[in-house]
Amino acid sequence: MTDTTAVSQELMEIAEAVAREAGDLVRAALGGSVTVAATKSSGVDLVTEVDQAAEALIRRRLAELRPDDGVLGEEEGWQAGSSGLVWVVDPIDGTTNFVYGLPGYSVSIAVARAEGEDPFAWELLAGAVHAPATGQTWSAARGGGAYADGERLTIGAPAQLATALVGTGFAYTADRRAGQARVLAAVLPEVRDIRRLGSAAMDLCLVAAGAMDVFFERYLNPWDMAAGALVVTEAGGVVERVGEGVEGLTVAGPATLVEQLLDVVRPALR
Ligand code: IPD
Ligand code: CA
Ligand code: CA
Ligand code: CA
Repeated sequence: MTDTTAVSQELMEIAEAVAREAGDLVRAALGGSVTVAATKSSGVDLVTEVDQAAEALIRRRLAELRPDDGVLGEEEGWQAGSSGLVWVVDPIDGTTNFVYGLPGYSVSIAVARAEGEDPFAWELLAGAVHAPATGQTWSAARGGGAYADGERLTIGAPAQLATALVGTGFAYTADRRAGQARVLAAVLPEVRDIRRLGSAAMDLCLVAAGAMDVFFERYLNPWDMAAGALVVTEAGGVVERVGEGVEGLTVAGPATLVEQLLDVVRPALR
């Protein structure tokens, strides 16, 4: 085991423990009435008091366990550290599912070596995605593999795109969705079927676990995909990006399927 792998393993355990603790808070809140605190980029983009409380809890724990690390989280933004490591946090990925009482929401926590300004380019060291409604946890450590509830994950032998079950997701603004609809119209006739489950972090883990074959989504934020992307690559898959930053499109899965899907998606991107 290299030093990096050992450190990554330790960081993965922290990510798992903190994601589970935040997951317990989120699940407990579901029993009561969930207050929508605000809408964000548009009227359909929800944030609840539970998103905010979960991120606050995660930040408190990380401050205790890793006081020198930075944090980049969806609800509270950027907090600098001195260690060069940054935790990338989505306290509830799939808030719409959470608000509607659907089980497809997760807590996503990753940690990266933050070199440069672009979080999408940071080297991911460890990550965990926890689904409070089912109790499932997916995790990965750089060089140490990917796991579903402790079981090692190896991404499946690729199907052809024509028989692939493809996951995707949509942004919250009408102009972005119009473009996504054009891409969807190009993909749908070429594949077995499409799933829009509502948590990009879980979508990526489900691809790593073979419950979907390949995933694509444009306009993801770093916190939507950091932990799940490491789960995919540590399971032996690839994560490709077309375009830069939040404008970019992410495609994840077994290498051959990712290439086939990119061939269909690229001409439809504008
Ligand atoms: C959203 C989910 C969804 C994806 C959206 C994300 P949020 O995150 O990951 O699946 O399609 O692009 O914004 O807002 O529920 O944390
Ligand atoms: Ca959100
Ligand atoms: Ca998210
Ligand atoms: Ca979120």
